[in-house]
Amino acid sequence: MSKEEKAFPMGAQTSLEVCIARKQAEAQDICSLELRALPGQSLPAFAAGAHIDVHLPGGLVRQYSLSNDCAEPDRYVIAVLRESASRGGSAAVHTQLLQGQQICISAPRNHFALQAGAKKHLLLAGGIGITPILSMARCLAREGADFTLHYSARARERMAFAEAIEASAWATRAHLHLDTAGGKPQLDIAGLLAVAEPGTHLYVCGPRGFMDAVLDTARAAGWPQEQLHYEFFAGEAGPREDDAGFEIQVASTGQVVRVAPEQTVVQALESIGVCVQTSCEQGVCGTCLTRVLEGEIEHRDMYLTEEEQAANDQFTPCCSRARSSRLVLDL
Ligand code: FES
Repeated sequence: MSKEEKAFPMGAQTSLEVCIARKQAEAQDICSLELRALPGQSLPAFAAGAHIDVHLPGGLVRQYSLSNDCAEPDRYVIAVLRESASRGGSAAVHTQLLQGQQICISAPRNHFALQAGAKKHLLLAGGIGITPILSMARCLAREGADFTLHYSARARERMAFAEAIEASAWATRAHLHLDTAGGKPQLDIAGLLAVAEPGTHLYVCGPRGFMDAVLDTARAAGWPQEQLHYEFFAGEAGPREDDAGFEIQVASTGQVVRVAPEQTVVQALESIGVCVQTSCEQGVCGTCLTRVLEGEIEHRDMYLTEEEQAANDQFTPCCSRARSSRLVLDL
């Protein structure tokens, strides 16, 4: 995505009306939606790893990865896990969206693309993290690329698309793993990642614990950062248990507000009457992007590129925090 595209908040981006051509159960608490263009219209092309924003009843906007092969130009397929701690998004998909209904989505965006020219692709999915990974596997299989898929889940009945994977022409490249009784992945992550082979790229998507285990193991085994590709779920970007508090200073007025460990910067600013426009509240859309004049940022978004994050001059206050004791914002 170019800088110019990023300069526009999501509200200013083109949105598309699509039809829910099919809604079906894929596994326990997981349903899929097949989205098709309205008559006379077409869908923008996408590449494996892309996601779309889905506008839900009640003004919610949530991001979901596309799971189908990008060679299918006439449909987008998403799958949604109903979260027990849902803030409304996944529950709305499960209970309020109906087959035949029209909904509004964004054009696909991709922060999790396959690396052209890689010798081999190692795909790791945990739970609902299978959605972008499945699109990647389908794309790589069609292109005749060298890849292996490892898919780990808590139980077989929670494994969306397991039958489709087992019935695919590339089933021998796919390995399905169920968690052990103690909740640990049966997948031998350390064994799998023990050797960082030059030219092999690793892609991982899943719950935070799964992703942390994979990425920590890979880094400890010497995998170079440029061979690691990952996408955290939207919603995993918020406050964490070990977060500390810090201060925010509003440059134009000099106001200083403390951000409590369980608070976001947006919430803290609201408490002193400073409103920052938000949409996804999950570090995905860029609507809340704010310039930072002083202090060290702890980025938690999926919107800025690594280079943009390293520049330390802007952040997404809906989820990102501070490493320093204070950030001065250009507000
Ligand atoms: S509101 Fe979407 S990135 Fe902050």
